[in-house]
Amino acid sequence: MADPLAYDMPRALAYIESLQRAPDRLVVEEIPDKTIRIQPTIGMIAAGLVDLLVRCGRTTRILDIGTSMGYSACVLGRAARPQGGRVLSIEVDERIARVARENIAAAGLADTVEILVADAKAAIRELDGRFGLILQDGHKDDYLPMLDRLIELLEPAGCLISDDVLFPVMNLPVSAMGWARAIDRYNQGLKSRSQLHTIWLPIGDGIAVSVKA
Ligand SMILES: C[S@@+](CC[C@H](N)C(=O)[O-])C[C@H]1O[C@@H](n2cnc3c(N)ncnc32)[C@H](O)[C@@H]1O
Repeated sequence: MADPLAYDMPRALAYIESLQRAPDRLVVEEIPDKTIRIQPTIGMIAAGLVDLLVRCGRTTRILDIGTSMGYSACVLGRAARPQGGRVLSIEVDERIARVARENIAAAGLADTVEILVADAKAAIRELDGRFGLILQDGHKDDYLPMLDRLIELLEPAGCLISDDVLFPVMNLPVSAMGWARAIDRYNQGLKSRSQLHTIWLPIGDGIAVSVKA
């Protein structure tokens, strides 16, 4: 007999998406130059989670690593704006950052979200002060090398949100297996850092929420 308490995860996630408020839409969602590879956004449910964390924490200083077209930056900016918060979003590719700036301006968030074109791994070494929330969604190989500096940059009780943490158990193409191994090492790193309290959630490609003690 089927377990009456079991549910099908893809069906459950689709149901949750149907209940959630309409997602932020970007004005520009495609770049005609197909040599520029656009990577997926954090997705609608993860967006709902980060929105909620920013609003609950009344977070005013936010770091977004890996801007892409600006989806997560817009979600964070919209959540931070009511309390006068600011988002610094870092993107390595100037061509993608240009489109993200367009999207952020169209969303009316140009005064809230700043895009820095830089290699995030180097840029975070130069940042001053602390952040109430950091979203890590940059290059997967960089997650672990960046972890200790990001912990330093978090204020006490600040949140580190990491996307794609379920890569190690997903059916990724062979070309992406290196990322899966990098993320597995990162997950072990999150687990071993005594300053962090972390939960891993099966949302999208996996989201880890860590709070700094
Ligand atoms: C998965 S996408 C980010 C999606 C975004 N968080 C969203 O939800 O809309 C990752 C982005 O990180 C950027 N990236 C890769 N390596 C980077 C680096 N070293 N520094 C900054 N950005 C980087 C890529 O160009 C890409 O646009």
